[in-house]
Amino acid sequence: MGKVNIRLATREEFSKVAEVFRDAFDYEIIPIFGDALSPELHDDIYQFLFIIIDGQVVVSDVDGEIVGYVMAPQNISKIPRGFIVNGYVFKLIWRWMKGRYGKLLRSIGIKNIGRAIKDKVGFLRPQRKELNVSARILSIGVKKRFRGRGFGQKILNYALENLRMLGSEKVRLEVRPWNSSARHVYEKAGFEYVGQMSDSQGEWLVMVKDMGGGV
Ligand SMILES: CC(C)(COP(=O)(O)OP(=O)(O)OC[C@H]1O[C@@H](n2cnc3c(N)ncnc32)[C@H](O)[C@@H]1OP(=O)(O)O)[C@@H](O)C(=O)NCCC(=O)NCCS
Repeated sequence: MGKVNIRLATREEFSKVAEVFRDAFDYEIIPIFGDALSPELHDDIYQFLFIIIDGQVVVSDVDGEIVGYVMAPQNISKIPRGFIVNGYVFKLIWRWMKGRYGKLLRSIGIKNIGRAIKDKVGFLRPQRKELNVSARILSIGVKKRFRGRGFGQKILNYALENLRMLGSEKVRLEVRPWNSSARHVYEKAGFEYVGQMSDSQGEWLVMVKDMGGGV
């Protein structure tokens, strides 16, 4: 293997990280969007997201190719607020009206898009008190051909250390019950099961790590 580097992503790397997401999460994307997810829409959302959570995305690169990422925002509530306050929601609607996202709506259907948005909003909204932890592992993904080589664990640990330096005392995440490899990585990093929630695609297990215990 070539030269491996684990580091914070720059704002300009949103598109490369979006590409890793599409490779890592095709099992979630395909049932909802088929092959119709517009990369332009996805890139635009990530571009705005990267501005809002600047300095809280970790990547691993191998010889300059980004092969894995973790999005670990320190304060999850800043994301929906940032999209509204900065006018990004309107920018996305405007670009859609100008035809930038092509056949997206026609081929997927407004119902599926509404469902995806509802799931994400449900995911981000505040939860009952004991689960109300602001720091979140929002997303972690490693390209399929680079899995099983320790990248997932390393980028997660790096992201946790970053959150610790930013002052987070607890970190929360959600994982599907069947996602054994992700659960394994989270358990090894010290996350514990604290509850359950669900969305239109099924159950989530909620896990929290107490940062007092060391990464
Ligand atoms: C979860 C994910 C990020 C892990 O990345 P990775 O680079 O393969 O992770 P690592 O190589 O650091 O570790 C994988 C661990 O899982 C273990 N593992 C792999 N498949 C497993 C399985 N089916 N059951 C249990 N453990 C499994 C490996 O043995 C390894 O553990 P070890 O280091 O103790 O041997 C990657 O699989 C991925 O991108 N999945 C798709 C996206 C996703 O589901 N993300 C999580 C959303 S909550």
